[in-house]
Parts: sequence; structure tokens; C-alpha cells
Amino acid sequence: MTGSTGDATVTADWIRSLPKAEVHVHLEGSFELIDLLELAKAAGEPLPGPAATLFDLGTHHGFAVPEVTTGGGRDNGAGVGGLTGFLRFLDWQCGLVRTREQAARHAYRFAARQSASGVAYTDVIVNPTHWRAWRGREAALLAALAAGFDEAEQDGLCAVGICVSLLRQQSSAEGADVARWIARDRPHRVVGLSVDGDERAAPRSGARFAEAFTIARDAGLGRTVHTGESSGPDSVWEALDLLHAQRIDHGIRAVEDPVLLRRLADDGVSLGVCPHSNITLGLYPDLARHPIGRLVAAGVTVTVNTDDPAPLRTTLEAEWLAVAESLGWDRERVVRLALDSVAASFAPAETRERLRAQLERVPLAA
Ligand code: ADE
Ligand code: ZN
Repeated sequence: MTGSTGDATVTADWIRSLPKAEVHVHLEGSFELIDLLELAKAAGEPLPGPAATLFDLGTHHGFAVPEVTTGGGRDNGAGVGGLTGFLRFLDWQCGLVRTREQAARHAYRFAARQSASGVAYTDVIVNPTHWRAWRGREAALLAALAAGFDEAEQDGLCAVGICVSLLRQQSSAEGADVARWIARDRPHRVVGLSVDGDERAAPRSGARFAEAFTIARDAGLGRTVHTGESSGPDSVWEALDLLHAQRIDHGIRAVEDPVLLRRLADDGVSLGVCPHSNITLGLYPDLARHPIGRLVAAGVTVTVNTDDPAPLRTTLEAEWLAVAESLGWDRERVVRLALDSVAASFAPAETRERLRAQLERVPLAA
């Protein structure tokens, strides 16, 4: 993901220095190798493969599923079909977290890593279905994570809001139960409802989750929906029309539908784009052929995010730098990206206002 930047002063260090938000990142995709080594040892479980290659997505160390060709993507062994194996790998990782202390520690470390990238606020996605040991105790899981985020914020680290995520294959009743639970109990730090998982395993899930997302909207919760990653524009339309989505996670395949692009632009619905994730999981061969530039040119607001930074071996500053280089963005345009990230977040209004004011004071000359 290299190219020639339009502005040599747009560097990783400068990007790190910007107060910004990340709005599409999964807590499940934030276990570093050292975390997994410690957790696996504590659980008495062997690693599924050698430590050095644990994040090699082509192998998935037994989590791989046969590749299914979708036409658009590169068949690199990770591929779009690789998303299914990848999600199973996330199940294995989260299954190692057994205690309240371990969950809180993971949350704290997540906030610290966000701070290391200069992220001031994060909407993190937490999908309780990945966390095997917490089945039936989802409230306890969220409470443990929130305690870790509280400690982190008290220590001056990144502030974090939680988007509770439904798994795409869940039933309508399960989705509505989750939405009712978070709308009623308002678990600490929960700011929104999300859907994630493999779009190809349950491609048209809009109607199924309409009740859940209507409950979330009526309760004033944020709504963000994974769609337009491996499924096409139709599912993005469903997220807008049936799920009242305020943000779309990925949404890149909206590029195939000019009417949809206009709707996204007119309604100010932003796309939480994750270029390196899309390339690693085989949707596009490289950044030059990634649709982000065409989405921006169509007037759609995009944010740039990491998705699953640890197993995908990326950082937010690497993502932003790669996009800035590829699209020839100068400092002013990158500050705009930071402003858009803050505006798209479900952070409290005073946090958004404080970060906006800080960003407006960033010097644009080196
Ligand atoms: N959960 C974690 N990463 C994901 C992705 N890229 N797509 C869908 N669900 C996910
Ligand atoms: Zn995602």
C-alpha cells in the first residue's frame, strides 16, 4: 500500500499527533500475539499453530474453510471465503477469555493501543457471540469490559464507547432481545447497536433485524451495520431503509450503485472503510483498485479504520497514511478525515465538540 503522497509532511508521526476517532474496529480483532500467548497458557489450551504464523490468514491453522469464489476478489487463500475462517479464528481467540480480570485487561490494553495511534475516542464493536465462556452472561462480559475502559480513561487513555453487535446469522427474536436488553438496562458505556459477521452466510438480513434496530432507534442508541463488504448494494439499501443505519461498516460495494451513492451523500451516512482489511481478506488486489477514491469523488463521507488491527497487522496511522498517499491528500484533507471521524462517532456531544475544536487549531503548514 504505497504510493506518492501529495504532501510530504503527511507522515505517520503527524497523523499520530492528530486527535481523532476510530469508528470501525472490533474488540475481537485486537488481541496481539502476546495477549494470545498469555491467555492460551492461562486456559491450558495449545496454540492452533506456530506463534510466528498465527496471524497468517492463508492458513487459519485449521479454521480455514474451502474457498468460495465470488468473482470480484483475488483468490489468495484468504479471499472472501477466508472471512469465514477468519471469524472462526476470532471465536477461538475470544474463547480464551474466561475471567472478569482477563476481559477488563483486554479492554484496558485496547484503549492503550488506541492511544498509541493518537486516537482520542473509539466506538468499539463487541459481538458477545464470539465470547464462548460468557454465553448467558453477556451483561457480565460488558460490565467487565466497561471496567477496563473506565480504568483506561481514568489513566488518561482513549475514551471508548461500545457498540453491541448482533451476529448476522442470529434470528429476528434474538436480535430484538439484545436490542430490548441494551435499551432497557443501558449497560455502562454502550452507545449503539451493530451487526457484523459474514454477509455471505446470511446475505439479506435487513428485514430480520428491522425490529431490533427500530428498538435501538426509538431508544436513542446509535446504529451501525456491516454491509456492502461481501454483499452488494441491495444490502446497503436495506441497512438504510430497514435498519435506520447512521453509519455503514465497509459499504464499499455501494460504489456499484450511483443512486445509492447519492442517497448516502444526501443523508450524510458515512462509510467506515477499512482498506487493508478489504485487501487482506481478498476483496481487492491493492489500494489502487480499491473503491475508496471513487466513493470520496461521489461525495460520500468516508472514515478510514482498521477493522481487526492485530490479526490484520495494521495500525490506524498506517491506514490513514496509505490512503493519503494513494489519493494525494494534503494536511488539510487529512484533518478533514479526522473531523469526519469525530463527527461520525457516537461520542458524547461535548467530546465531539472538544475534538473538533482541537482539530481546527491544528497547523496546516509544517
Ligand atoms: N467481524 C470482525 N471482522 C469482520 C469483518 N471484516 N466483517 C464482518 N464481521 C467481522
Ligand atoms: Zn468490521
